[in-house]
Amino acid sequence: MDDLVIDAIREGLSGTRFSTVEVHESVDSTQAVLVREGGADGRVLVADHQTQGRGRSGRAWASPPGTSLLFSALLVGVEPAFAPLVSLQAGLSVALAIERLGPRPQLKWPNDVLIGGRKVCGVLGELAGGLVVVGVGLNVSQSRAQLPEGVDATSLALELEGFGGPPGFGGSPPKALRRDRLLVDVLRQLDRTLAAPDWLDDYRSRCATIGSRVRIQVPGDVVEGVAEAVASDGALVVDGRPLYAGDVIHLRAAGG
Ligand code: BTN
Repeated sequence: MDDLVIDAIREGLSGTRFSTVEVHESVDSTQAVLVREGGADGRVLVADHQTQGRGRSGRAWASPPGTSLLFSALLVGVEPAFAPLVSLQAGLSVALAIERLGPRPQLKWPNDVLIGGRKVCGVLGELAGGLVVVGVGLNVSQSRAQLPEGVDATSLALELEGFGGPPGFGGSPPKALRRDRLLVDVLRQLDRTLAAPDWLDDYRSRCATIGSRVRIQVPGDVVEGVAEAVASDGALVVDGRPLYAGDVIHLRAAGG
């Protein structure tokens, strides 16, 4: 917990919409708490550990205590048509924050952040009574053995080894991998992205799904084809068909 210092977080986020931050040692799920309790625009809940972390499509999201940046943020007043875009904006904001550390992350539609094809961060967006709750789970200091099995996952510490950063296992994390600093960087970026008219261009230019042959599990169906574009409403266009939700598998680049 000594890399989640509340005063540093509040100071780093002053002047942004995310000025109401709480840090907890353990909660069931930062997402579940905000969905349950609601609150004012910009409320942020951070946890060192979650006992019932939630992933997309009803999956669990688990990580050893102290190894991940786990937070949810509440947004009030988002136009209903824009609500599905918030989780894309959150994924982009994580990618932009990571870029400043050296690696070149990519996005897998709708909002997974990948480094070298491996997932480093997952984002969960939910609508709760007109409020948008967006949750971020960023793998920070996990060793390979601490990452979930059967998923192509990575952590910032593993990826930063190639950029001269110490791995950060045991002892104090290197400065770039302090979770309070990462949280401030991601939320300051999200504050900018939410107001940026051209954010979708930045998203598209980092989206590895566009141009790939994909298989997508959508409710009641499996769609396979070439992902041509991400439309302005956030839909993934596969062989001319707009898809609004689903788990994507990248098969190979189109024509590859
Ligand atoms: C995914 O399945 O890729 C999305 C994972 C989202 C996990 C984060 S961790 C913080 C917040 N609280 C949760 O219970 N889930 C989200």
